[in-house]
Amino acid sequence: MAINWYPGHMHKAKKEIREVIPKMDLIIEVLDARLPFSSENPMVASLRRDTPCIKILNKSDLADPVVTQRWVDHINSTSGMKAIAVNLKQPDKIRSILDMAPAMVPERNLDVSQLKAIILGIPNVGKSTTINILASRTVAKTGNEPAVTKQQQRIKLPNNIVLLDTPGFLWPKLEPEDCGYRLAISGAIKNTVIEFEDVAMYLAEFMMAHYPDALRQRYQLKEIPESGIELFDMIGQRRGCMRRGGIADTHKVAEILINEFRDGQLGRITLETPEMIETQLKAMEES
Ligand code: G4P
Repeated sequence: MAINWYPGHMHKAKKEIREVIPKMDLIIEVLDARLPFSSENPMVASLRRDTPCIKILNKSDLADPVVTQRWVDHINSTSGMKAIAVNLKQPDKIRSILDMAPAMVPERNLDVSQLKAIILGIPNVGKSTTINILASRTVAKTGNEPAVTKQQQRIKLPNNIVLLDTPGFLWPKLEPEDCGYRLAISGAIKNTVIEFEDVAMYLAEFMMAHYPDALRQRYQLKEIPESGIELFDMIGQRRGCMRRGGIADTHKVAEILINEFRDGQLGRITLETPEMIETQLKAMEES
């Protein structure tokens, strides 16, 4: 999948994060609950060393609840890590992080010294929404785009916690390759830099294999076809986007499928499980 990244900005963001993380008491990473592995910053695992880490699985309202619980258990089994699944309709649950944080840094006396936490998150995972809820006010957004220059900011939170917010550059977690597709489906990668129809085809095939009932219900299908191309034709017929000669307008169908996934109209879908990631990483190592 061809993605147009910005190597200069990526390099700058990597350098900043590499310098800052060792000075932090705690890392808070906001992830998309529909793709908790693919939406991770690829550097956190290698840079965190023993620093405690809270992984916020945000947008849990859009994710498959059974798989979300598997991810929470999986992350909690890693030393020094805690996972919490939340969504923007649960502000109290999000604020419970403010009590969870000091407990993860037990050696610090919060009456006398601040707890320094960094919050990370790739674009569109809901990092700004989370910060606003934690701070109980609207905090100016740091820039996700190369053109936006808003720099790091420090936000004072209850319990003597100071949150460092950094511009949320995304760089590719291209390995395994499926990660790029999942990020594109979620909207973390702009539609203009992806091969939109390929991404929608990936989603179509994933849905056929893992959530056939959701497809049946949404597009009133009597049966699930053998291939993604046939599924595109069926959705095209249902939604009146056919070209002359009875062939689906693949761009329109791709838009329908991806937009309806992003809006939650296909149901609560998670694009990856811990087991899938394990298999894909193993296959990558062996190749
Ligand atoms: P970012 O800083 O990580 O880039 O993300 P931001 O908070 O700006 O949120 C990105 C989009 O995700 C916003 O929608 C926001 O409302 C939505 N969002 C955040 N948290 C959740 C959640 O828990 N569940 C759901 N369903 N959506 C969530 P938007 O369409 O870009 O903006 P708007 O409609 O809020 O104006």
